Amino acid sequence: MPSSPAISPTFAALPTSPATTPDTQALQEHVRSGLTRTPKTLSSMYFYDEVGSRLFQQIMQLPEYYPTRTEFGLMTEHRHAIAAALMPANGVPLHLLELGAGDGLKTKILLRELLSQQANFTYAPVDISPSALDELRQSLEQELPELRVQPLTAEYTAALPTLREQPGRKAVLFLGSNIGNFLPADRLQFLRQLAQPLAPDDRLFVGFDLRKDPRVIQAAYDDAQGVTAAFNLNLLHRLNRELGADFQVDQWQHFAQYNPLDGAMRSFLVSRRAQQVHVAALGQSFAFEAWEAIHTENSYKFTLPQIEALAAEAGLQVLEVFTDEQAWFADVLLAPVGK
Ligand SMILES: C[S@@+](CC[C@H](N)C(=O)[O-])C[C@H]1O[C@@H](n2cnc3c(N)ncnc32)[C@H](O)[C@@H]1O
Repeated sequence: MPSSPAISPTFAALPTSPATTPDTQALQEHVRSGLTRTPKTLSSMYFYDEVGSRLFQQIMQLPEYYPTRTEFGLMTEHRHAIAAALMPANGVPLHLLELGAGDGLKTKILLRELLSQQANFTYAPVDISPSALDELRQSLEQELPELRVQPLTAEYTAALPTLREQPGRKAVLFLGSNIGNFLPADRLQFLRQLAQPLAPDDRLFVGFDLRKDPRVIQAAYDDAQGVTAAFNLNLLHRLNRELGADFQVDQWQHFAQYNPLDGAMRSFLVSRRAQQVHVAALGQSFAFEAWEAIHTENSYKFTLPQIEALAAEAGLQVLEVFTDEQAWFADVLLAPVGK
């Protein structure tokens, strides 16, 4: 089956692997392209090597990092309703595909609920990080041994064609506000691509981080212990490890800034001085001016009307919105329209 072109979060125009896991060659192409453009960019999807995945688990535990706690709370509170909304009637099988599953912390709430209701379903977690997926598979084997699991190491869009092969209802989970990593135009294109293999009875369940006090958002991406800084800087360590780059990581700093006008939280790696970096795998050097930034991540925050409008533009309708008491986060149930 032909695979759709991959859209990577943050910077869709940069080349990514056309097939499944971005291999070293795709990373090389990405780095060559990202570090020769102005401003320099690298995609957040390369944060998640083994070290990065572990650092992200630490981030999720930070007092400042509200998204995981909030989505965990709302999924716990609404688990019966969410399971009921996803489960098809009359014992029709359910294929639950999760994009960017990570450690599945919040998904397990739903999986437990579905199992307790003896739902007939398969869970297919997809992640670009083999180590994250392997840890998830092992933890599911231990914690939920009765669960049918079909893990897939792949880029988001490379996993979508597998949906067409599934009988029964398909439901796609996209939690943690990963949708916020896309630039607005790419976000719409990605949602359209997600909607394409879905039939009217299929469902999408997408987490959106909502707009709130800018200081709360700012702190979440610039924590006092510096774990988010380590997570961002690990990208340079990764390029040193995997591409033989010679980034002197202590000559770089993490900088994150929320803009309440467009709802974008942007993260950067800033060069503390003028420097040259050689990337052996590319046989190429890159010059950085003092205080020049590499843009590494966007994390957009949303309003409910914006979500409604985005869904409509993508050919989806909002069936239900699950949110927390403070309306900090929303998990939105969507279905395709007009098919
Ligand atoms: C921010 S974490 C969120 C994990 C989980 N969804 C949650 O809500 O806690 C993002 C996860 O998505 C994966 N990921 C990021 N970009 C991806 C891409 N383009 N394709 C597949 N997986 C990706 C990462 O490896 C990571 O495990």
